Amino acid sequence: MTAAGTISEVGYVSLGTRDLKASIDHAEKFLGLRVTETTADKAYLAAQDTHHELVYVQAEQNGADHFGLLASNSDELAAIREKVDRAGYRVLAEQPIEEYAEAGFAFVGPEGYTWHIHQAADRYDVRAGGVGVDRFGHINLKVNDSLAQRDFLVNIFGMKVSDQIGDDVAFFLRCNPDNHGIAVMKRPDVALHHHAWQVQSIADLGRLGDRLIANGSRLVWGPVRHGAGHNIAAYYLEPAGGIVEVYAEMEQIFNPDRGVKQWDPEDLRWINQWDGQIPEMLHYGLAPVAR
Ligand SMILES: [Fe+2]
Repeated sequence: MTAAGTISEVGYVSLGTRDLKASIDHAEKFLGLRVTETTADKAYLAAQDTHHELVYVQAEQNGADHFGLLASNSDELAAIREKVDRAGYRVLAEQPIEEYAEAGFAFVGPEGYTWHIHQAADRYDVRAGGVGVDRFGHINLKVNDSLAQRDFLVNIFGMKVSDQIGDDVAFFLRCNPDNHGIAVMKRPDVALHHHAWQVQSIADLGRLGDRLIANGSRLVWGPVRHGAGHNIAAYYLEPAGGIVEVYAEMEQIFNPDRGVKQWDPEDLRWINQWDGQIPEMLHYGLAPVAR
């Protein structure tokens, strides 16, 4: 994927789970991810030819362990490291904190979220074919101070705001042509609201709904057509307590001069073009693991 700047991809999400096996089984069954490696307390899963796009860590509490962002190159990695120092964020490790990273570091950003900035090692060729999602796409974070979180993502990671709701209701930021790799919503609680996975077409969302129903579960929202991002998306709850989004047709932005698309927060079509309703699933989420 073509890098728009400092960060080339939102590479993976790492979640703490009280039930490692249930989380693995769920990701295999409903996202069609493959387990690439397991250790005593961790499982690595991927959709693409990569070592991991999702990591589950056995933990006392369900939670958002950390997020892995890929630096575009070693110069950008060093530049982010400097900016993190200048901004005074607490660095946790001066080396990669996961496997299959060549270089990297980890730090705690605003509102307690942990970020692992790294360069990936060579592609990890495990693709077996068959059904499943194409790739990991984005995270959506609930934060108390959305303006500060936006400034952090712009100033430290060089991301660009694609869409904005009101003055501070929500921001959708990109690091490559995907409309958003990270979204932030101003909420009373601090938690990873969802992690999102791309599929080829909305037909796959129908298949997901059918699979969930056949296994005694269901979608918690959708399919909907988002305004911000233009993706068609469906959502379900995973065993660790987080929300998973599966989506198709996200807006691709290639014009470097595209400004911020501003949405009126009173007009709820920013969240769903089709019915203009706020979903009831916003209270779910995985709080950042305290460090
Ligand atoms: Fe999303």
